[in-house]
Amino acid sequence: MKKVFIISLLVSGLAMLSFTNYKNKPIEQSNQAAIQVPANVQVALDKSCTMCHNDASKNLKGKTKLSFDKLLSADGYPSPKKMAKFLEIADEVKNNSMPPKGFLEKNPDKALTETEKSAIIAWAQSEAKKLGAK
Ligand code: HEC
Repeated sequence: MKKVFIISLLVSGLAMLSFTNYKNKPIEQSNQAAIQVPANVQVALDKSCTMCHNDASKNLKGKTKLSFDKLLSADGYPSPKKMAKFLEIADEVKNNSMPPKGFLEKNPDKALTETEKSAIIAWAQSEAKKLGAK
């Protein structure tokens, strides 16, 4: 009798566990996953980009054009927009248009090294490809 009781406790416990798991599962919006950033790229972005390009940035124009928070999170920009933003990131860095020249004059320590530029460009292009860019 005791055994039956313990077993039924276990079974109902398991059932409750799987029910809460089910309930806690986020609603799948568009089958997107969060995007992983290699450590060296993250360091470069934090040094030279995210102060203007995240949701909390005071640079209204910068954050409206590009928020890394929305770019990297599963429920951020829709995939086609993510792809376009990754291509723009690669282009802007390649052309030395970002970070902006005026900003670099005041903050020369925020300039990207050539190694950092290559790392950002390679990463952004590979993420764009994963999202369907040719
Ligand atoms: C001092 C603030 C600032 C920093 C730092 C900065 N940006 Fe920007 N960025 C802006 C602003 C402002 C715009 C909008 C420019 C415009 O529309 O003329 C912009 C535009 C862009 C765009 C174009 C987005 C679009 O949809 O047109 C990209 C891509 C971009 N930045 C990437 C970067 C990257 C990558 C870095 C770091 C290497 C960076 N930015 C650093 C302020 C900044």
